[in-house]
Amino acid sequence: MKGFASDNYAGVLPEVMDALQKANREHAISYGDDDITKSVKELFTKVFDRDLEVVFVFNGTGANVLSMSTAVESFSSILCADISHFYNDESTAPESFTGCRFIPVASNEYGKIEPEIIEKKLIRKGDIHFAQPKILSLTQSTEYGTVYSLEEIAALYQLTKQHGLYLHIDGSRFFNAAASLKASLSDMVQHIDILSLGGTKLGMMFGEAVVVFNKDLAKQVRFKQKQVMQLASKTRFIAAQFEALLQNELWKKTARHSNEMAQYLHKNIKDFSFIEITKPVQANVVFATMPEKMTTYLQAHFPFYVWDEFTNEVRLMCAFDTTKEEIDSFAALIKNWNPE
Ligand SMILES: Cc1ncc(COP(=O)(O)O)c(C=O)c1O
Repeated sequence: MKGFASDNYAGVLPEVMDALQKANREHAISYGDDDITKSVKELFTKVFDRDLEVVFVFNGTGANVLSMSTAVESFSSILCADISHFYNDESTAPESFTGCRFIPVASNEYGKIEPEIIEKKLIRKGDIHFAQPKILSLTQSTEYGTVYSLEEIAALYQLTKQHGLYLHIDGSRFFNAAASLKASLSDMVQHIDILSLGGTKLGMMFGEAVVVFNKDLAKQVRFKQKQVMQLASKTRFIAAQFEALLQNELWKKTARHSNEMAQYLHKNIKDFSFIEITKPVQANVVFATMPEKMTTYLQAHFPFYVWDEFTNEVRLMCAFDTTKEEIDSFAALIKNWNPE
């Protein structure tokens, strides 16, 4: 069963399991007013080294929906990449909860949004007949496994400020991006208003965080959290898992490992005929095209997803528990593949 389908397929980091066990003592105040949640909120302020509000939520879709609905009015529009998870893979949850218009913006070959494209969308400001742009949402690392540089994020942030927008980041794999850039968490969040911070894909059992850096938005996020049904009565069990990730920089060790496994996978399969690597490998995923028959043959041994059925592009995702031995076995299967 172990394969390259998703970092969501992986289990739970032992340190996170221990943290859950440790949190499972006695009774505690519900809805995030307990001591564990309070101290983990302080830990967030310390590691991100910025004033912030953080709330803990159940899942990534919920984190995105909460982030957006905290920052918009129902006559707003939200700009996001045409390939974004938010636009393609969250059903109509974003529309249902925000009531907003979503404007998919053409991303470049790396799955990134460029400032010039955004500028063309920022039109008819103040026109009551036109949905008013309020958020630019980026994914870091992107759905293609590429990573925005800190300068690219800063430039997009400046643009949002010039036009009165908020910058949101879907950071479902934010820790992988930080490890890829070799950046501190503090450097990573200097130009963000609101962040959906992923934990599950890095080895938590469940749970994500919404981290709000913009002071105006910070005031209302807790009210919105309840309204959009993302307030867990036993919040401490999500907070405790984040504590495990942040303590002793476990996030860095873990994200670095899955990123390195993607590099190793890339190195080991890139020279096979029939395989073409299609995206730069910068985080924990490799994209490649391969013949359909090869995909079927490999999938019988290692599950993974076809990303684009028309081009036979597949997505090979590495997780915290991916090993070199598994990658060697996968590469050996490719080597032994007989197209006949
Ligand atoms: C980039 C990105 N954002 C958000 C999510 C949403 O996470 P969830 O499935 O927990 O709602 C995912 C999940 O795969 C994702 O890849």
